[in-house]
Amino acid sequence: MEIHDALSGRKTIRGFLEQPVPQAVIKEILIDAHWAPSSSNQQPWHFHVVTGAALQGLCEKIEEARRLKQTSYDPSKGKTIPPEYVDRTKKLFRQLRPVISSLDGDNKSFIESGSFRFYGAPVVVFITMHPSLPKSRYMDIGMAAQNLMLSAHGRGLGTCAIALTLYYGDAINACLGIDPDQHETLLSIALGYPDPEFPVNAFRSSREDIDPFITWAGF
Ligand SMILES: Cc1cc2nc3c(=O)[nH]c(=O)nc-3n(C[C@H](O)[C@H](O)[C@H](O)COP(=O)(O)O)c2cc1C
Repeated sequence: MEIHDALSGRKTIRGFLEQPVPQAVIKEILIDAHWAPSSSNQQPWHFHVVTGAALQGLCEKIEEARRLKQTSYDPSKGKTIPPEYVDRTKKLFRQLRPVISSLDGDNKSFIESGSFRFYGAPVVVFITMHPSLPKSRYMDIGMAAQNLMLSAHGRGLGTCAIALTLYYGDAINACLGIDPDQHETLLSIALGYPDPEFPVNAFRSSREDIDPFITWAGF
């Protein structure tokens, strides 16, 4: 796959086939993720890969935690962020609405309930790093995550990066035996073969015009 096609062709997948992903394929994807650049080559990532009964059990634990502590996604909650970011979230939800309305539910409940069950993906990868590392290492994790998603895309698999689940980080850690003193869980990524029949998978998010995002100097 041409690199440009890979970059522009990858998109978030929110409906998966039950078809399992062979462990050898997952390993190849993680090797690709591991080729990500990192600050002074520290390779600060750790991948916790969950499938089958372990994933089923995890989803049940997250559901239980949600029943005890409901949370709702609001990008501006508790802090002031520039309005354009809130507007872009609203725009995404607005654009998703017609696709999701065919599912018999509103956007929010689809995104929230879907995220908390990893959209039914057969595999979930949690990416963690040691909590003592500085925030700048988050960049390394992001690069590994992007490598992972592009590698999956190149192999005909789909992904959805899911941060919403981290609201229930304690439940996730307890269920997967992740020691929070050693691992800060930063992102979960749902992984599996895209369901071609699932209407939401036809959705393509938009991008703003690039020009206001660039400041040129010396041209
Ligand atoms: C760090 C990160 C966290 C995300 N968290 C969620 C999530 O919790 N639930 C979800 O449905 N999508 C989530 N997404 C997917 C974004 O909504 C998606 O990437 C964005 O709308 C752009 O669409 P695209 O990936 O199809 O280009 C997340 C993406 C990133 C990069």
